[in-house]
Amino acid sequence: MSHRELLDRIEGKEARVAVLGLGYVGLPLALAFAEEGFEVVGIDVDERRVESLARGKSYVADVANEALRAQLDGKRFRATLDFDELAKAHVIVVCVPTPLNKSGDPDISFIVNSTLEIEKRLQPGQLVVLESTTYPGTTVEVVLPRLAEAQGKRLKVGRDFFLAFSPERIDPGSKKFTVRNTPKVVGGVTEKCGEAARALYACALEKIVPVRDATTAEMVKILENTFRMVNIAMVNEVAILCERLGIDVWEVIDAAATKPFGFMPFYPGPGLGGHCIPIDPFYLSWKMRTLHAKARFIELAGEVNSAMPAFIVAKVAAGLNDEKKSIRGARICILGFAYKRDVGDVRESPAFDIASQLHERGAEVSYHDPHAPEVVLEWGKLRSAPLTADFCRALDCAVIVTDHSAVDLDVVLEHVPLVVDSRNATRGRTSKARVLKL
Ligand SMILES: NC(=O)c1ccc[n+]([C@@H]2O[C@H](COP(=O)([O-])OP(=O)(O)OC[C@H]3O[C@@H](n4cnc5c(N)ncnc54)[C@H](O)[C@@H]3O)[C@@H](O)[C@H]2O)c1
Repeated sequence: MSHRELLDRIEGKEARVAVLGLGYVGLPLALAFAEEGFEVVGIDVDERRVESLARGKSYVADVANEALRAQLDGKRFRATLDFDELAKAHVIVVCVPTPLNKSGDPDISFIVNSTLEIEKRLQPGQLVVLESTTYPGTTVEVVLPRLAEAQGKRLKVGRDFFLAFSPERIDPGSKKFTVRNTPKVVGGVTEKCGEAARALYACALEKIVPVRDATTAEMVKILENTFRMVNIAMVNEVAILCERLGIDVWEVIDAAATKPFGFMPFYPGPGLGGHCIPIDPFYLSWKMRTLHAKARFIELAGEVNSAMPAFIVAKVAAGLNDEKKSIRGARICILGFAYKRDVGDVRESPAFDIASQLHERGAEVSYHDPHAPEVVLEWGKLRSAPLTADFCRALDCAVIVTDHSAVDLDVVLEHVPLVVDSRNATRGRTSKARVLKL
């Protein structure tokens, strides 16, 4: 297939699209293409996920079962474990995980594994787009060399196959920003690669933002997440400074945010969570270390943010101490275990650290989260406790880690003697409890 034929297929929505990795990113994207009339096959290594999708059951909160079923019924989308489907696709989009390993370095094994599967089946003229967040250089240094020698051949990128990077920018739980109306940054390894990838996304998404090349596109994503991480760390430090000064940091931020230019509010909290902000910037700092350079802001921000759970635990200890109690033996409930308001995703949530630190110090730890019915910690499994008046009366302390709108804070403030509020969720509410805010 020539570049022209590929473009014609894409523009005519006759290209077959394969999406590798059907998670928070891959599934909504696969459906967006299917809804536009493309024939889409989703490939995943997780048998349970594939089975669930085949039954029309979505496991991604932002994807409704009805939306999934509409595409299954219309035969525009199906999920499979079979990588041989890659050979039938004109376009392959890779949305596999990019976590950190135990020592905090990038684990790109999922990208490498996907690349090896593609390499075995690469077809002339195929377009491959990587969406997984990763360090600048991955597409060109890790994916390209393998595809250029696919099946023992010597292939030229931009002529024999096409390769691009386009970072995902999903905002989980957001009603306002979806995969379709969030501008999409696209960078090709060559100009022709970029052109093909832009054409693809333009079929399903509202706004395309072209950049010079794939490496630039990789860096865009890392900048976005580093920007958030560093600003959150800065404001976390300001919160700690304000406490020493006896100033309410929330009031300071709200007042500063009235400045109509040159200020953007960030809010302190119990620590970073989720799949992106606590992880992605370390992909860049690792890359810089390989070049004997340092990403100092990232390292410092990581230090400040990862100390926040201990800061919250110290607040609990101080609050209990005032009541002549200790953490040991105290009944403490964590309110909101997910990392973000109104979502059920607990990945990297600071609630794990807070719960574990309290548990290690002898507390009887429970939690309540209407979005996360069960969580697995290193020391055991917990189920979300019902937030009744009786349950609250039996507690010594409640710690607001995530300010879900569905959590009944009034019952907590009425019946629990001590509340540590890391989100300013109790603002403006009447309370019988003693409230210690971050
Ligand atoms: N979740 C977000 O909000 C978000 C936002 C922006 C970017 N990202 C990035 O997008 C990428 C994917 O994230 P996610 O949240 O969708 O992850 P996820 O864990 O929800 O989904 C990834 C899927 O890939 C599958 N998988 C793993 N190896 C595979 C392989 N070799 N072949 C096929 N499938 C494979 C897994 O089984 C899983 O279903 C990551 O790089 C992440 O950093 C995520």
